[in-house]
Amino acid sequence: MIAVGECISSFSQGMAGLKRIRAILSEKPEITDGPECDESIDALRGEIDLNGLTFAYPEGGGNAVLRDVSVHADAGSVLAIIGRTGCGKSTVFGLLERLYDTDRADMVCLDRRPVRNIPLKVLHQDIACVPQDSFLFSDTVESNIAFGADGADRKAVEDAAKAACIHDSIMEFPDGYSTRLGERGVTVSGGQKQRIAIARALLRDAPILLLDDCLSAVDTDTEKQILENLRRLRKGRTTLIIAHRLSSVQGADRILVLDDGRAAEYGTHAELMALGGLYRSLWDKQQLEKQLNEEGDDSNA
Ligand SMILES: Nc1ncnc2c1ncn2[C@@H]1O[C@H](COP(=O)(O)OP(=O)(O)OP(=O)(O)O)[C@@H](O)[C@H]1O
Ligand SMILES: [Mg+2]
Repeated sequence: MIAVGECISSFSQGMAGLKRIRAILSEKPEITDGPECDESIDALRGEIDLNGLTFAYPEGGGNAVLRDVSVHADAGSVLAIIGRTGCGKSTVFGLLERLYDTDRADMVCLDRRPVRNIPLKVLHQDIACVPQDSFLFSDTVESNIAFGADGADRKAVEDAAKAACIHDSIMEFPDGYSTRLGERGVTVSGGQKQRIAIARALLRDAPILLLDDCLSAVDTDTEKQILENLRRLRKGRTTLIIAHRLSSVQGADRILVLDDGRAAEYGTHAELMALGGLYRSLWDKQQLEKQLNEEGDDSNA
């Protein structure tokens, strides 16, 4: 009788769980390949254009988050986006990945074709993104890094981890690459999490890489090393990087400064410094902060 009782109870628990899973599995995506989709496109080269991009979130009450932003990035170049919090940087990434549709199709183009013309399968396969708030699964470090890169072997996973400067930390975990992360495993620090997410994206080796503020919890020396590795590994492929620390975008081919959804400034580091506007004032402020920190360290020593 007790066993039957237990059986009934776990059955009803299971049914409740199944109901929730079904709700997720039966969800229909709002963004799908439409009639304008060109099935003959099977890969991206990595050229990016924003043409007078204006965008308001459907749930945002009509308030434009981006206003008339125009930018061009050649295939293989590095484009950095900076600006105050809430100015629309992550939104640009979301639109490149086609998480939302714009009013006019040609506002967001890849390889001179509106993103809407490119099959979603190609977008998913050829754009690797490290989101601002990346997610690690309760699984081994190796599976976490290899997620999205089917069939990657251990050597490739280790190379990606080395490029993301996380290999040494992983080797210090109790079971190395086989260490389980998450609820029943090791808890990683914010900086380690960011670097595992970077390794995951690098392993995919996609023509377009989007890095959304993913070096914020990493110290400046390690950041410098990762940026150097990126420059070497991503040669010839497009990289977009959002950052708060201007020292990390200094070497980009083009820097876009967003201010409240508008493209306030656009150019190379030298051009923006000479312009003496928002970028310059942010740069001077961050340099001053760095100096004060160093002086603080000296006096502590
Ligand atoms: N899904 C959404 N629905 C409605 N509004 C949103 C949504 N996501 C972002 N926003 C709004 O759009 C604006 C721009 O957000 P976004 O995330 O692009 O900023 P950000 O520049 O990436 O900021 P941060 O530096 O803090 O990451 C914000 O005002 C935000 O509140
Ligand atoms: Mg953001």
